[in-house]
Amino acid sequence: MINIPRGTQDILPESSAKWRYIESKLHDLMSCYNYEEIRTPIFESTELFARGVGDSTDVVQKEMYTFKDKGDRSLTLRPEGTAAVVRSYIENKMQGLPNQPVKLYYNGPMFRYERKQKGRYRQFNQFGVEAIGAEDPSIDAEVLALVMHIYQSFGLKNLKLVINSIGDAESRVEYQQALRDHFKPVIHNYCADCQKRIDTNPMRILDCKVDRNQPEMKTAPSITDYLNDTSKAYFESVKAHLDRLCIPYEVDPNLVRGLDYYTHTAFELMMDSKDYDGAITTLCGGGRYNGLLELLDGPKQTGIGFALSIERLLLALEAEGIELPVENHLDLFIATMGEAADDYAVKLLNDLRHAGVKVDKDYLSRKLKGQMKQADRLQAKYTIVIGDQELEQQQVAVKNMETGQSETLKFEEIASYITKGA
Ligand code: HAM
Repeated sequence: MINIPRGTQDILPESSAKWRYIESKLHDLMSCYNYEEIRTPIFESTELFARGVGDSTDVVQKEMYTFKDKGDRSLTLRPEGTAAVVRSYIENKMQGLPNQPVKLYYNGPMFRYERKQKGRYRQFNQFGVEAIGAEDPSIDAEVLALVMHIYQSFGLKNLKLVINSIGDAESRVEYQQALRDHFKPVIHNYCADCQKRIDTNPMRILDCKVDRNQPEMKTAPSITDYLNDTSKAYFESVKAHLDRLCIPYEVDPNLVRGLDYYTHTAFELMMDSKDYDGAITTLCGGGRYNGLLELLDGPKQTGIGFALSIERLLLALEAEGIELPVENHLDLFIATMGEAADDYAVKLLNDLRHAGVKVDKDYLSRKLKGQMKQADRLQAKYTIVIGDQELEQQQVAVKNMETGQSETLKFEEIASYITKGA
């Protein structure tokens, strides 16, 4: 037997109905916030992620699915959406569009070679937004408000929004040096990756999964103490907007995020539920990326966004015992008695489907009792039983399975009776 690849999942019909519900709600919310959908390829040039996400990140170093195509090009299955959306913004010269910021959203599979655990998959589905072309604390606040709105609209309550500012490029130069000075005397106790990170990108030491419990992690200098005046003022203004919007948040000076492109506002939404037994509590993450467009040879524009995985959203809903209102019932089940009736049902079924009725019949020559059980399993709202008499009279009793009441109708009247929600 050939099994599904490790870290991937089949989304079976019962779940896919939930996915459709979630995705359709997300599309609706996006129109309220005036974001438009963008679809970029599943694979991109490897260089896009190496440069955009950052050579020293775990994502690029360890987690990418990279391959050569037949033309010897190095391609990578996208591990995240931001770099690709920014590439597309630059390539399609969206900076020339009159409506800035350009507000985009995406929804699709991403791939990371990670250790499988609850809430962490090798193929997962990210829904994300990017607002590119404005550097204004009010757009940061809009993006944060949108994150909260999304989760609250599904009825989730146990949420914790954690924010931080990781400053602008200038603030970070000093900070990186302070981290080097802090870790240098003890770096021999750290993993091989951190021993490289201390030179290439010391901030990455702070989110090392191997060394997270080392004592110097707790005493490491905080970025907050290295923010210059511009960065401080920007962060204060974002917080003031959040206060005005009555969005509760916690400031965590240790939140640095695992991707290199962030500047200023960085945030994560955590699940704050005691009943959740999974190790993964981060539902969503994002932030501002002021240098990314230029790093990818684009114009001097800035952006902010976030991404969440639908898999983790579903886990959060499960942890809070929230049932999504997904219905998957049939309008009508046609039961038949005899060959002539069954032949007639094939045609009636086709006509009714063309009229927009959700309808099915038996295909396994079940006895009438078996057919009625099947109607029950399919949660059919109405049933009809066609036999010789119904064929002769060209009419049939349409039974409402909820009330038990029947109404006799001509075959051609059934569609409008059902679609009008009789
Ligand atoms: P990220 O924090 O790497 O950020 O991922 C964002 C979200 O994707 C996570 O909070 C989680 O919900 C989901 N996620 C990540 N990895 C996995 C996985 N292996 N299995 C299941 N879910 C996962 C980004 O990707 C940035 N591009 C977000 C962003 C957009 N920043 C600015 N704009």
